[in-house]
Amino acid sequence: MDRPIGIFDSGVGGLTVLHEVMSRLPFEDLIYFGDTARVPYGIKSAETVTRYSVEIADFLLAKKIKMLIVACNTASSVALPDLAARCDIPVIGVLVPGAKAAVKYSAVRKIGVIGTEATIGSSAYVKAIHGIDAGVEVYTKACPLFVPLAEEGWADHRLTILVAMEYLKDFQNTGIDTLVLGCTHYPILKSAIQEVVGKEVRLVDSAEETAQEVERMLVLKGNPRIGNPHPVRKFYVTDSPDRFRKVGECFLKHPLTNVERAVI
Ligand code: DGL
Repeated sequence: MDRPIGIFDSGVGGLTVLHEVMSRLPFEDLIYFGDTARVPYGIKSAETVTRYSVEIADFLLAKKIKMLIVACNTASSVALPDLAARCDIPVIGVLVPGAKAAVKYSAVRKIGVIGTEATIGSSAYVKAIHGIDAGVEVYTKACPLFVPLAEEGWADHRLTILVAMEYLKDFQNTGIDTLVLGCTHYPILKSAIQEVVGKEVRLVDSAEETAQEVERMLVLKGNPRIGNPHPVRKFYVTDSPDRFRKVGECFLKHPLTNVERAVI
């Protein structure tokens, strides 16, 4: 039987990952879960984020998914081992694909990582990068204000540039040539971030890298979906679907229909 892929995030941000998955794997049936009632995860403890993540995984497992994508960087940073232990299907987070790509791209072996407070505080990206190449210098910075700026749709607003200048000045004398966008929302602000760090710094979009990993894993497991001209895309949220629809369309770059409120 052809089963859907489950994907979750703390809210709308994971739609940047869903967008990449839909572009790369257009025939897959997908169930997206956004925990909009409990967002943001980025300022919460690892214990709380893990508890929320496990609840969502159980909801999606009951829908008979064939793979679980943890689109949220914060959840990927703190909850992945617990999720992997609980699920008998492949569990893919956004962290390792992003770390792998960064190590591959960085010629000078100096990498910057930006993310939420919880992601940066967990050091999960640093550990993942050092797990691949212990000699890489890693510089990190939490950029919490990027999340509301992205949700406001202020991708090119001068305030976003100012905030980016303030946060990213820490990277100025580090010599990094690669910067990991370690949060679901940051791809929305890509052009402002690129403008501030300069063209010579390559931005790693974890969303793109994760979609590639999902495809690789499906091929490996022998269960990619083919010949499904009308794939089902179903969305569950824990708060009102209205704001999710409104903000989410700019993240997904696609109309958002089939959104239902879920109780977990
Ligand atoms: N989805 C979160 C992440 O990627 C950002 C928003 C939040 O703090 O919940 O880390």
